[in-house]
Amino acid sequence: MKRSLGAKTIAYPTPVYIVGTYDQAGRPNAMAAAWAGICCSRPPCLAVSLRAATYTHGNILARRCYTVSIPSEKYVREADYMGLASGRDEDKFAVTGLTPVRAEYVDAPYVAEFPLVLECKLLHVVEIGLHTQFIGEILDIKADESALDEAGHLDIERVRPFLFAPGNQAYYGIGRYLGKAFSIGRDLLRRASSVDKA
Ligand SMILES: Cc1cc2nc3c(=O)[nH]c(=O)nc-3n(C[C@H](O)[C@H](O)[C@H](O)COP(=O)(O)O)c2cc1C
Repeated sequence: MKRSLGAKTIAYPTPVYIVGTYDQAGRPNAMAAAWAGICCSRPPCLAVSLRAATYTHGNILARRCYTVSIPSEKYVREADYMGLASGRDEDKFAVTGLTPVRAEYVDAPYVAEFPLVLECKLLHVVEIGLHTQFIGEILDIKADESALDEAGHLDIERVRPFLFAPGNQAYYGIGRYLGKAFSIGRDLLRRASSVDKA
């Protein structure tokens, strides 16, 4: 028997993305966002949902773009800070000692020390309620060489991203390898189709 927990914002897994923007004065800012994820394959798009109260919200509307830098585990402290402080009051790059780099395809900064970066051009703005969803087309992804395997493919175990668990408000690293996607369930697919044909 399941117990109802009510209408809450709990879904697993939830990422920790760092959204990079420039403010009106051209100062780089970075904020943590967990209400976010890939939302379309063609064109490749990523959505982040931000409250209007955040500094980043106005920055995205003004420059029509943003970056998402994905931090590795060793930067969990810095990422948390980026979700506590506002760029209105503090220079988060100066405080953390992290390096802002101007993106190649959009007018926004990314975090040099984080292994994976997505450059997004704003496509749609959806007013949902407390949060505004910014859907951005991914114009480029940049990865550190150290995050790639011998074949040049991105390797999650080298990126070492971490998750935010909204239930107990905690961060967790990625778990162990479980199996190949679009593959491990194939035996069930054959059984299902033979049942259908029966
Ligand atoms: C792990 C984590 C995830 C967060 N996710 C979001 C989010 O998805 N949307 C949001 O509006 N605020 C989110 N926040 C809060 C903002 O990061 C926080 O309000 C921040 O100060 C905003 O920065 P800014 O004012 O410089 O834009 C999150 C904070 C943390 C610590």
